[in-house]
Amino acid sequence: MTRFNVLATLVATALVPLVNAAVASQAYNWKNVKIGGGGGFVPGIVFNPTQKGLAFARTDIGGAYKLNADDSWTPLLDFVDHDRWNYWGVDALATDPVQPNRLYLATGMYTNSWDPNNGQILRSTDTGATFTASKLPFKVGGNMPGRGMGERLVVDPNSNNILFFGARSGNGLWKSTDYGATWSKVSSFTSTGTYIPNPSDSGGYNSDKVGLAWVTFDQSSGSSGRATPRIFVGVASNGTSNIFVTNDAGSTWSAVAGQNAAYFPHKGVISPSEKVLYVSYSDGAGPYDGTLGAVYKYDITAGTWTNITPVSGSDLYFGFGGVAVDLQKPGIIMVAALNSWWPDGQIFRSTNSGATWTRLWEWQNYPAMNKYYSYSNTLAPWLGPNYVDTSTENKQIGWMMEALVIDPLDSNHWLYGTGATIYGGHDLLKWDTVRNISIAALADGIEETSIQGLISPPSGPSLLSAVGDLGGFRHNSLTAPPATGFTNPTWATASDIDFAGNKPATIVRIGTGDSSSGKQVAFSSDAGASWSQHYGAADNVSGGKVAISADGDTILWRTGSNGVMVSQNQASFIAVSSLPSSAAIASDKKTNNIFYGAAGSTFYLSTDGGKTFSAKGSLGSSTSPFKVIVNPGVTGDVWISTDKGLFHSTNSGTSFTTISGVTQAWAIALGAPAKSGGYPALYAAANIEGVGYFRSDDAGVNWVKINDAAHGFGSASANCLTANPRVHGRVYIGTNGRGIFFGDPSGSAPPPTATAASSAATSTTAQPTTTAPATASTTAPPTSTAAPAGAYGQCGGTNWTGATTCVSGYTCTYSNPYYSQCLPA
Ligand SMILES: *[C@@H]1O[C@H](CO)[C@@H](O)[C@H](O)[C@H]1NC(C)=O
Ligand SMILES: *[C@@H]1O[C@H](CO)[C@@H](O)[C@H](O)[C@H]1NC(C)=O
Ligand SMILES: *[C@@H]1O[C@H](CO)[C@@H](O)[C@H](O)[C@H]1NC(C)=O
Ligand SMILES: *[C@@H]1O[C@H](CO)[C@@H](O)[C@H](O)[C@H]1NC(C)=O
Repeated sequence: MTRFNVLATLVATALVPLVNAAVASQAYNWKNVKIGGGGGFVPGIVFNPTQKGLAFARTDIGGAYKLNADDSWTPLLDFVDHDRWNYWGVDALATDPVQPNRLYLATGMYTNSWDPNNGQILRSTDTGATFTASKLPFKVGGNMPGRGMGERLVVDPNSNNILFFGARSGNGLWKSTDYGATWSKVSSFTSTGTYIPNPSDSGGYNSDKVGLAWVTFDQSSGSSGRATPRIFVGVASNGTSNIFVTNDAGSTWSAVAGQNAAYFPHKGVISPSEKVLYVSYSDGAGPYDGTLGAVYKYDITAGTWTNITPVSGSDLYFGFGGVAVDLQKPGIIMVAALNSWWPDGQIFRSTNSGATWTRLWEWQNYPAMNKYYSYSNTLAPWLGPNYVDTSTENKQIGWMMEALVIDPLDSNHWLYGTGATIYGGHDLLKWDTVRNISIAALADGIEETSIQGLISPPSGPSLLSAVGDLGGFRHNSLTAPPATGFTNPTWATASDIDFAGNKPATIVRIGTGDSSSGKQVAFSSDAGASWSQHYGAADNVSGGKVAISADGDTILWRTGSNGVMVSQNQASFIAVSSLPSSAAIASDKKTNNIFYGAAGSTFYLSTDGGKTFSAKGSLGSSTSPFKVIVNPGVTGDVWISTDKGLFHSTNSGTSFTTISGVTQAWAIALGAPAKSGGYPALYAAANIEGVGYFRSDDAGVNWVKINDAAHGFGSASANCLTANPRVHGRVYIGTNGRGIFFGDPSGSAPPPTATAASSAATSTTAQPTTTAPATASTTAPPTSTAAPAGAYGQCGGTNWTGATTCVSGYTCTYSNPYYSQCLPA
């Protein structure tokens, strides 16, 4: 069983500058919907050696986190917005041993075409509260093969202005001497690594060089205030030297003599008082692979290598990932099997520098095991036996174990990352006494899932999710982790979920590409508590988007790669040839036989339960409709988001109104109206004088921006939205890498400024809402006086020459580089 993070293809759009921005903001309170326990691969965890308890974790698609004293984690990259989405791929992390307030992240998502942007080093002087980006002249691959090797980015412990970064893609070794602000190539280091996982991968994901794997300073070779002379560098090569050393701070390099270059070196960790470099090796770059490997130690003084691999023969069926040394107790080392898929992951510990080892578990009388640990998943109960990746074998220890660390200032405190979470504990020394330690899921605060679909039905649980890598959840609580994911069937990845408008407890969900687990359509009639497979689905047809009819008897399925299909009353799915296979689809929420579709610039309507569709009105110059949503109270009242804007029809798509000011829209949703009986609140991830998240309480006439500078939600085009039909203002944003957020208004809404008549560009139908009263523009014209700006007025931004203070009761609040606004204090 492998785990992967969904490789969504994302295209960032150019930032449209806000000149005289007219979209006012409403303050929102944003929080993660707690799934708990991470939910994805944690390739790196790094402790600061100087400041006790200071540690950071990096993820491959969901940013980086800082450890808190209570074992929870605080996200550091939630400011990342649409234009900076690749910051969430963190390929390396460095914490400064001299000035622990300094933190560095090497970010960028892919080195192939999926990510058009170069990478950057993010540097912080306040332990990650804020960052400054230094752009690199090449790409960084936070979600690429070999991302668990490392760390590739390190601070010189003797001269902390110096950093080294080992790049991918043949770009070699890079150095900064100004705390990461500027970087230049180390031309004396000539190896760029030879390993390419799959040279014939035309997509480019596996055909790029993994490159440099890690950089490790030997602090004891120098003294404080001067560049450390001895530095080791591991590269992703095999069959040829892959560990290099300099003794003159990087002027000259040579291959370390006597090394065994059979496998790729994943980690190189120094035990300073032993003067030993410990190296883990695997026969793949990771994170999913590894069938052979080794652990070696290099005695720096003697210049000799010793093979200290903990197991041999038929016991050695994996490579090695994480290596940890106990800086308080020299000679204590630990190493993790990178992937021991069966029966469970394995961790080894030695108290004599690798001469002998003990294991976290061993066979008693097969199949009975001696587990030298107690296990707790209290903080993420879904990791238990119902979880797809543990359902058959009840794995506890984990897989993809590249990050393994012992707190440098507390021998009892340790953490390790897996493909699903972070585990660790606070009684590690008991391994050496009673030989029984406590292991707990310790990823509270880390939410790193890729959300594929969200629904908020009008009754029952307020939120259900379709989630990449985990399947999905019925969220009985937004603040407590779910006890279990969806079961029977469980799928590794779900692609969508929908509920029936007239029977909201009737729910359908779709799985993706997991041929071993049967039909990829599942059905629930109790709001997602229990499920049954839909036997009308063909084997090996999966993915895509789904819509269930108002009365719940008909399922329209735009499959991943088998076109559009429909099934009524659990009968076999039949092809729907009249709707393009790229269509966005939706069901009417009141009238059972009505479905909607949109593809290219054409809107489609079915009045026969999805069997046939006919083309209706035009969506202007749109080429790719993103989402179709339906007013749950009014048949035929539909909204369509596209690459060319937002379109509204109240006559089942016969004609459309183009919503003024919206130049692009992705996820859209309708939720509870502002006033009882009013038009549902409309939410959009859209470009309205800049990409952001917006709400309209008058059907698209006036908009308020609801996200802020601290909450960017990554790529807007990769996200999903749903809105609560019971609570006005509450909206859920599913991200591609940072889990689900829910937001509630915390400030008052700014007054409307536009009327329906002045807003709609081409109104071919009557606006369905009450007309908002006309008021003065909230954007004051630029002035040169020092008078404060009024309520909701502009008070800053690029080229802004007007007031920079606000009238009493209001605070000038940064919104984006182009716009700051007076919001209620
Ligand atoms: C290098 O590793 C790859 C992947 O494990 C393997 O196929 C290849 O044979 C190795 N080459 C050498 C020279 O060891
Ligand atoms: C370790 O402790 C746990 C919890 O008390 C127990 O279940 C387990 O059997 C112990 N392991 C061994 C090998 O005694
Ligand atoms: C489904 O796909 C798997 C893997 O490609 C294949 O082994 C199996 O035969 C397929 N099943 C059907 C019914 O086509
Ligand atoms: C700010 O002013 C400069 C100089 O006039 C101009 O080049 C730039 O485009 C302006 N920026 C914005 C966002 O209006």
